Amino acid sequence: MSHTTKENFIKAKLFTRFDELYAPVLPRIKATVMQQQQIITDTFYAELSKDEAAAKIVAGRVDQLKATHKAWMEELFNGDYGDDYFDRRYKIGEIHVKAKIEPYYVEVVTSYLRRAFADALIEEGAEAIQASLAILDLDAMIIIGAYHEDRMRRMSEVTGMNQKLLETLMSFG
Ligand code: HEM
Repeated sequence: MSHTTKENFIKAKLFTRFDELYAPVLPRIKATVMQQQQIITDTFYAELSKDEAAAKIVAGRVDQLKATHKAWMEELFNGDYGDDYFDRRYKIGEIHVKAKIEPYYVEVVTSYLRRAFADALIEEGAEAIQASLAILDLDAMIIIGAYHEDRMRRMSEVTGMNQKLLETLMSFG
């Protein structure tokens, strides 16, 4: 694993004052969101399955994926967003990379989750919705980071260029 995604995760948490503003709110709203978990998860896979290519990817294992999606949601609201959290979430990203799932799909289903969380938390007020979106966006950033790092790794293999050098060449700094 390169360190880029982890560095970005840490920077993004500082930028949004995540640990101070949002992390403490998430366990308080967990019960409310989890009341809607089953419908959110069912709709997540129903939406995904409307796309022919995505439907093929999840075919035959939707029940198992629904169980891991529930565990993923539980952890989202656990209140602990340190190194272990990052490592587990990054592994989820790597699993999607290995399964060759286009990142486009991750973006569109994350968009669905944003709307679903806002709906589930509407009665809890703005702070609750903001906290749920803040952690969801950090998770999406980690998954997309795993795709980015995989691309850099593959480009490094093909060109023979050092990965750090490639990162530097592609950065704006
Ligand atoms: C925000 C978006 C997503 C989240 C949070 C999510 C969550 C997860 C989690 C928690 C796992 C289990 C990882 C493990 O075994 O530890 C998983 C696996 C999987 N997900 Fe997703 N997922 C997302 C998007 C997608 C999309 C868009 C697809 C398909 C188009 C997909 C298809 C799969 C498949 C096929 C696996 C099993 C991979 C394998 O074991 O080889 N996921 N996902």
